[in-house]
Amino acid sequence: MRKAGVVGWPITHSRSPLIHGHWLAVHGIDGAYDRIPVEPDRAEAFFADFAASGLVGANVTIPYKEVAAAHACNLDPVAARLGAANTLWIEDGVLCAGNTDVAGFLGNLDDRAPGWDADPGVALVLGAGGAAKAVVDGLVGRGFRVEIANRTLARAEDLAARYPGHVGAHFLSEANRFVADAGLLVNTTSLGMKGEGDVDLDVGRCAAESIACDIVYVPLETPFLARAQAAGLRTVDGLGMLLHQAVPGFERWFGVRPTVTPELRALVEADL
Ligand code: ATR
Repeated sequence: MRKAGVVGWPITHSRSPLIHGHWLAVHGIDGAYDRIPVEPDRAEAFFADFAASGLVGANVTIPYKEVAAAHACNLDPVAARLGAANTLWIEDGVLCAGNTDVAGFLGNLDDRAPGWDADPGVALVLGAGGAAKAVVDGLVGRGFRVEIANRTLARAEDLAARYPGHVGAHFLSEANRFVADAGLLVNTTSLGMKGEGDVDLDVGRCAAESIACDIVYVPLETPFLARAQAAGLRTVDGLGMLLHQAVPGFERWFGVRPTVTPELRALVEADL
């Protein structure tokens, strides 16, 4: 039986077992996918010994995406660019790592807002943490000019410096300067998570065809998305990114490319 899982700390709230368990059942595969809690003082050893663990692979979540990438012998181009990995597998006995967060973010928009990148212009990204890295990389790859607004300017500047000529860096308090020109607004900050306030964006000044996207998915409708919807914008919630980023790992470990269906979405939504 092929075994995989999701590695993180803490890991109790991960929905990945639900997603992969659903696909294993749908495809009748004799496999398993579990939560793998790894305490911080064991993390180095865990990834160093991964190839001998008996697992065919794993997803990696907070706080181990960087340490997982550092221990891999082979990195796919996205993981190498970001210095962070969320998907591991073994090839010829050695640990390989990839990053499917970029494909997950883009796949979610392709799925929920078809045509969103037909005429790429300016995208406004709030936040400059781990999730923003994947979002900015994906948007630059699709031809957008990206303006990052973050509470800590230095983090935005560090991220922007990786894409010379394509990305600008600003304080979060400057974000409203860009709302009128941005065809796409993406919140990657933790603002909007249950009880964590709202982003201070004047969505009323956005062009009517603009798209507002959140990577937060608890709650599914963040205050930002609710205001954007009320202002007439198209909105895309964060759950789809979680579902789409899981696809490449499942295919690698279990040999079948799974599909993000409304049934799967409903299953995970019911668990939020
Ligand atoms: P993730 O991996 O989920 O992106 P992270 O790397 O901790 O998590 O990044 C969290 C992001 O949310 C950062 O951009 C953070 O801003 P700072 O870089 O200034 O820390 C942003 N963030 C978190 N709490 C915030 C708050 N109360 N107000 C504004 N921004 C906040």
